[in-house]
Amino acid sequence: MTISTLKQLQQQSLLHLASDDARLEIDILLARAIGKSTTFLRTWPDYVLTAEQLAQFQHEFAQRQQGVPLAYILGERAFWRLSLSVNAAVLIPRPDTECVVEKVLALGQGQQWRVADLGTGSGAIALSLAIEHPEWQIIATDINPQSLAVAQANALKNSIQQVEFKLGSWLEPLTGLFDCIVSNPPYIANDDPHLTDLQYEPLGALVAANNGLADLIEIVRLSSDFLHKKGWLVLEHGFQQGDEVQALFRQAGFVNVESGRDYGGNIRYSVGQKC
Ligand SMILES: C[S@@+](CC[C@H](N)C(=O)[O-])C[C@H]1O[C@@H](n2cnc3c(N)ncnc32)[C@H](O)[C@@H]1O
Repeated sequence: MTISTLKQLQQQSLLHLASDDARLEIDILLARAIGKSTTFLRTWPDYVLTAEQLAQFQHEFAQRQQGVPLAYILGERAFWRLSLSVNAAVLIPRPDTECVVEKVLALGQGQQWRVADLGTGSGAIALSLAIEHPEWQIIATDINPQSLAVAQANALKNSIQQVEFKLGSWLEPLTGLFDCIVSNPPYIANDDPHLTDLQYEPLGALVAANNGLADLIEIVRLSSDFLHKKGWLVLEHGFQQGDEVQALFRQAGFVNVESGRDYGGNIRYSVGQKC
């Protein structure tokens, strides 16, 4: 018997997908193949897929089995209050980075800020700040023109107009002074075993020389010249890099240096203020 009802496909597929979220991911792919919401799956478990719908599900399920992240298969990922398009040119935005957004919003509460987001990727940080503060002036940079194209498309998709996008390395395309510079730069060492789990994401968004610290060092070194007095630098980093990043901030003359945690309770970012 050919397995082609929703319920049968759910049950069979579960046996063949090694993922913590297998059930949810299968439901999302099934719902997408039939062009319905996941609620439909529970209401009509005996729905029989057409040959075309079955082919689409099988194709995308096979990709998922090979390890392609669901966000790349769907072409989108929810982040903050946004739906962001993603492709293989950009890092899939992580929930941990929402904690960085929260910190910038807390620091800038009630302020009229000019902010730079360095290495914007999909635009996750810059666009989240923009949607919360349409009055802020926000500039987003990335060295990869393909990333910048994704970020610009995401601004359009989310009807955000105030973010200016600039191509170039870190602060190099910027002029003038900022109240806050924020970045989630590459910070993984090139021999980190976790990289095998991230093989579908762009290496240029993940890996930095000098045991993952090279880009963090560069950004801390350059940022002071682009900050107003009392301006803030906010950097995401690896959960074991907190002490080193705090030391970098202090060596560069920043004060009020502290680190914050992500949703998993791990140290995930550090901040410092130009004195
Ligand atoms: C970890 S990803 C972060 C993407 C996005 N900000 C986020 O939080 O999801 C790092 C980003 O930095 C960019 N990048 C790498 N080297 C860069 C450089 N020298 N100057 C500017 N951007 C760079 C990459 O292209 C990538 O988009």
